This record gives sequence, C-alpha cells and structure tokens, in this order.
Amino acid sequence: MTIAQNSENVPVLRWGFLGAGLIAASFAEDLVQAQQHHKYQHEIVAVATRNSQERAAAFTERFKGSSSFPKAYGSYEELVQDSNVDIVYVSNHHPQHYDTVKLALLAGKGVLCEKPLTINYPEALDLVELAREKKVFFAEGFWIRFFPIVKKAQQLLHEERVCGKYLRLFIDFCLNSRFRELPNESRMCNVSLGAGALLDMGVYPLTWSQVLLFDDPLNGKNDPTVSSNALTFTDNNDDVGDYSTAVTLVFPKSQAIAVLCTSMDRDPVTQDFLRVDGDNGVQLIISGKCFRPQTLTLKKPDGSSEIMDFSFDATGFFYEQDAVFECIMKNLNEASEIPHGESLRMMRLTDQIRHQLKISYPADIRFTTN
Ligand SMILES: NC(=O)c1ccc[n+]([C@@H]2O[C@H](COP(=O)([O-])OP(=O)(O)OC[C@H]3O[C@@H](n4cnc5c(N)ncnc54)[C@H](OP(=O)(O)O)[C@@H]3O)[C@@H](O)[C@H]2O)c1
Repeated sequence: MTIAQNSENVPVLRWGFLGAGLIAASFAEDLVQAQQHHKYQHEIVAVATRNSQERAAAFTERFKGSSSFPKAYGSYEELVQDSNVDIVYVSNHHPQHYDTVKLALLAGKGVLCEKPLTINYPEALDLVELAREKKVFFAEGFWIRFFPIVKKAQQLLHEERVCGKYLRLFIDFCLNSRFRELPNESRMCNVSLGAGALLDMGVYPLTWSQVLLFDDPLNGKNDPTVSSNALTFTDNNDDVGDYSTAVTLVFPKSQAIAVLCTSMDRDPVTQDFLRVDGDNGVQLIISGKCFRPQTLTLKKPDGSSEIMDFSFDATGFFYEQDAVFECIMKNLNEASEIPHGESLRMMRLTDQIRHQLKISYPADIRFTTN
C-alpha cells in the first residue's frame, strides 16, 4: 500500500473511524490536534457510526482540519468501501470488534482495533488469519506498548538488570466506573456490551506483566502458570461480570512472580501503581495511571532515588498513530510493538483467567462448538 501525498508532497495517512464514541474522540484529538507530538502527518477522512449519519456528522464537525472535511457515514459498510481511507480505526465495544474488524478486512482495509482485540481467543485467531490472507496491516491498539517509558523499563530490567534477578511485580489498577449506578445500556455494567474488570481494565496489568516478566530474556518466552479469583456482579440480564479481580502469574524459568489486582469500584489510592523488585534491594516504581504512565523511579537500598520523567501533555495515542504510519510506509502488516502473536497470547491468557473465574460473555457463543 502506498501513502497518499498532500498538496505539498508530504505523505499523509488517511484514517477512517468505525465508531464515534468516547475513546474515538480522544484518539481523534491526538490524531489531528496534537501535531506538536507527531513525526508524521495524519488526516481523518471519514467517520461512520453503526446507525446514524447525523451522529457521524456531528463527530466530524469537531475534528475537521483547516483543509480536511471528513465524510460522515451512517453505516460501517459504506465507510469500508471508501477508497480514500487507508486505515480503519475500530473503537466500538469489544463484543462488536470481531464483526467490525472482519468487515473492514474483507473490504481489504488495514485495521487498528482498540483493546481488547476481541472477546476470546478463537475470534482473535480468526481475524489474524484473515488479515494474513488479505495481506493487510492489522494491530491491536494497545497504546501503552508504544510508550517510551515501557521500552525504558524493559531496558533497565532486562539489559541493565537494575533490580537483579528473581523479579516480583506488583500492580494495583483501580478506576471507579460507578457501574452500580449506571443505566443498563452502559458498557460498564452490561455484560453483553463487554462489562467486566478483566477485559476492560485487567488487560493493562496483564500487558505490563507480559512486557516486564514474560519478555525478560531469563524467562525464555515461557508462558506463566496462572491463578485467578474475583468479586462478581450480576447485571440486569442475569449475566455475571467481574468487578474486582486478582491474578497471580508465576514464571518458573526466571523465578519471577506477578501479583495483579484490578478493581472497577474505587479510585486509585496511590499514583505508584506498579512496583518491581529483585534480589538486590533496588525497586523500580512506575507512577501515573496504569494506562497512562508518566514517571519511572529507581529507589536504591541506600535511600537515594532516581526519577525519570516521561510525561506528555496529550492523551498519548500519538505514539501508536505514528507507529502505524511507519508500518504502512514500510509495507509491514503487523507492528513490532504488538505483533499478532502477542495479541493472541493475551486472548489465550484472558480466556484461561475467565475459565478460572467462571465468567462467560454472551458473544462467546459465536465460537462455541458444542
Ligand atoms: N485505549 C484506551 O485507553 C481505551 C480507553 C477506553 C476504552 N477503550 C476501548 O474502546 C472501546 C470503546 O470504548 P468507549 O468508552 O469509547 O465506548 P462508548 O463510548 O460507550 O461506545 C463506543 C461505540 O460503541 C458503539 N455502541 C455504543 N453503545 C452500543 C450498543 N448498545 N450497542 C451496540 N453498539 C454500541 C457505538 O458505536 P457507533 O458510534 O458506531 O454507534 C459507540 O460510539 C472498548 O472496546 C474499550 O475497551 C480503550
């Protein structure tokens, strides 16, 4: 695929949005209003909602540029046929990702899909196989994997071994969604719309454990053993979701352990959401939000600290947006920050955890064979 050029012969990646909800608005803000952070040029050329041209038009109004006037569609089917769209951004609820991504891939479009990629592993595998068959770009928009702070933490732990060996990772991810007070149509409390701590929030601590412990060369790419438990709620349709979920992961080869807790019923009690220690007394602490980390601190046994600032003033999608640009420019069909294999590994892990929690989604039925 070649990238179009603007009137000044500068390459511009032309995005089409499937879904015009909350996260689509944040993504669009970074795409067109955080130019100072971008290495490359991006443009929103089309926006579709599943059922309302008026809602799509209202969305495009907010994000049209001085020289760009995005088209507004009242169906996803129309947008994927638009030849001006180079890459599709999928941001509807996760039980809908499978059908929506499939529609775009079948139309030959590259896709960046919001996390979690799908509801379960069979759905994710089906989409990866389709993307490979169609030879188009496909990636899960797991934005923290693109943050420089993540790469720095990997370098400190895996190359410089600042904490030594035998790592322990502790993560506390809290975000009060007030799910008990929300109407049934909210995705935070309706399980058929994907409600539940694990797939909405828990994938963040799991991703941190993947990049910090699974990717540790001492682990040799061995999957961890998993043990999970959760507090659950029952929604108005009698479906059960998890709201406070504890997972421990054990990596026998590297003798590392992760203790992860995710709760959607309270606000964070500390900004220091992540701590790693090893066998030499040094602690690596990451602060900010679990989905938007801002500083990395090394605390030494002698009481001294080294603080590394990775803060930025936009939401933070610009890192993954530029990475997608580079992939398309280089004709790569997956991103090195989150190759297909990593998304599949995550879906296998969340399936395994859901099995232990006895949590199923109505959408699971799609790939149930008996
Ligand atoms: N990367 C991140 O930091 C981040 C943060 C938050 C969420 N997310 C992910 O992004 C996705 C969307 O989250 P969001 O907070 O943006 O959701 P949202 O605003 O509630 O809804 C997103 C879109 O889902 C569709 N939708 C809404 N209600 C629906 C219903 N009852 N039936 C069918 N479709 C419905 C709509 O698509 P149309 O506009 O096409 O009608 C809506 O615009 C989720 O998968 C979530 O996990 C990622």
